[in-house]
Amino acid sequence: MTQDSEHRHDMRLTTAAQLERARARTTVLTDAVDDADLIRQHSPLMSPLVWDLAHVGNQEELWLVRDVGGREPLRQDIDKLYDAFRHPRRDRPALPLLGPAEARAYVHEVRDKALDVLDRVRLDERRLVADGFAFGMIVQHEQQHDETMLATHQLRNGPAVLHAPAPPQTRVPVTGEVLVPGGPFTMGTDTEAWALDNERPAHTVDVAAFAIDAAPVTNSRYAEFIADGGYDDPRWWSERGWTHRQKAGLDAPLHWHRDGDGWAYTRFGRTEPVIGDEPVVHVCFFEAQAYAAWAGKRLPTEAEWEKAARFDPATGRSRRYPWGDDDPTPRHANLGQRHLAPAPVGAYPDGASPLGVHQLIGDVWEWVDSGFHGYPGFTVFPYAEYSQVFFGGDYRMLRGGSFGTDAAACRGTFRNWDHPIRRQIFSGFRCARDVTPDAL
Ligand SMILES: [Fe+2]
Repeated sequence: MTQDSEHRHDMRLTTAAQLERARARTTVLTDAVDDADLIRQHSPLMSPLVWDLAHVGNQEELWLVRDVGGREPLRQDIDKLYDAFRHPRRDRPALPLLGPAEARAYVHEVRDKALDVLDRVRLDERRLVADGFAFGMIVQHEQQHDETMLATHQLRNGPAVLHAPAPPQTRVPVTGEVLVPGGPFTMGTDTEAWALDNERPAHTVDVAAFAIDAAPVTNSRYAEFIADGGYDDPRWWSERGWTHRQKAGLDAPLHWHRDGDGWAYTRFGRTEPVIGDEPVVHVCFFEAQAYAAWAGKRLPTEAEWEKAARFDPATGRSRRYPWGDDDPTPRHANLGQRHLAPAPVGAYPDGASPLGVHQLIGDVWEWVDSGFHGYPGFTVFPYAEYSQVFFGGDYRMLRGGSFGTDAAACRGTFRNWDHPIRRQIFSGFRCARDVTPDAL
């Protein structure tokens, strides 16, 4: 083999392994419950699990089998059922969906064909397949649905069906803030092969000096906010946030309940006392914003978050991840549903950024105070429905991924967005604040 064909051979193998890994997780999440539970809608916010399953297969068929492979459709008749834009989640249970056995057979058949396409396609033929992009897009899509399905599991009632070892314990104390120097840095990417259109292009952003929490806000700090009457004091809330807090009756993170003098939470069917040094999770943007105001701080902007995560002051360049350019390993971050909870603060010293900011990647998605827009020079790729149709909508950004996010769908540049009232997702936050020049 020439060096070039060897490279392509390796790329096919790693891509096939990534597809396999995503499917293994989908299988765990869908085999864990019986057919009745697969069909049931566990929350109006979520699809029935069996919808996610066939939708994953349908997207794979559309992009890899039909578009990349130029093959005949397997099930054109079901395209509309699994078009996320056509049917909001609350309406999906009423659709004539494939049953569990049919859905499993369908995704299996699609996968066989997709792997055959991967074997035969020329990976330099057009931009959609350069560096295996279309395959990477489908890997990420399935992994993103695996995180969504994990969130559905968290909303499901009944005994525990998912099992995982506890996350690692604290290894170093992490407290206080880190000062991020002012000046330009490179945000976004031109070089990540599987980066999505909204992460591109790389561009320079000038960010004024700011301070950011060295770790995500913990449960015990959040409980202080509650104990101090934070949910009853409109001073800390934005106008919209306060209206929402009253209307929705918010008084603690989702899944928290009173337990004597303290708090307990129910996670994946198990109820246990809230662990104080774990990052808080299942809060909406408005709750994060109120906590930050109560603490005398604010949420970081998206550019501030990314600078804290990627900027290396020694070289002036932006890293792929806080720890450097190497892909994430279990040493760096709590990703990939290896554990079914965030790890306590200080559990991942090897994942810290050069400036000493911890746990930016993994554990909990972090709300940042920015809306969703394309970067300067944004171009749609490969389709407007991936990102562009959401630009300017009622969204706030989330960065860094959670314990439920796979490494394939989590980079220093990866951007997630959701409505500011959402909290069924694995969302937490950390605070930032302005610094005066003499603080430098
Ligand atoms: Fe999807």
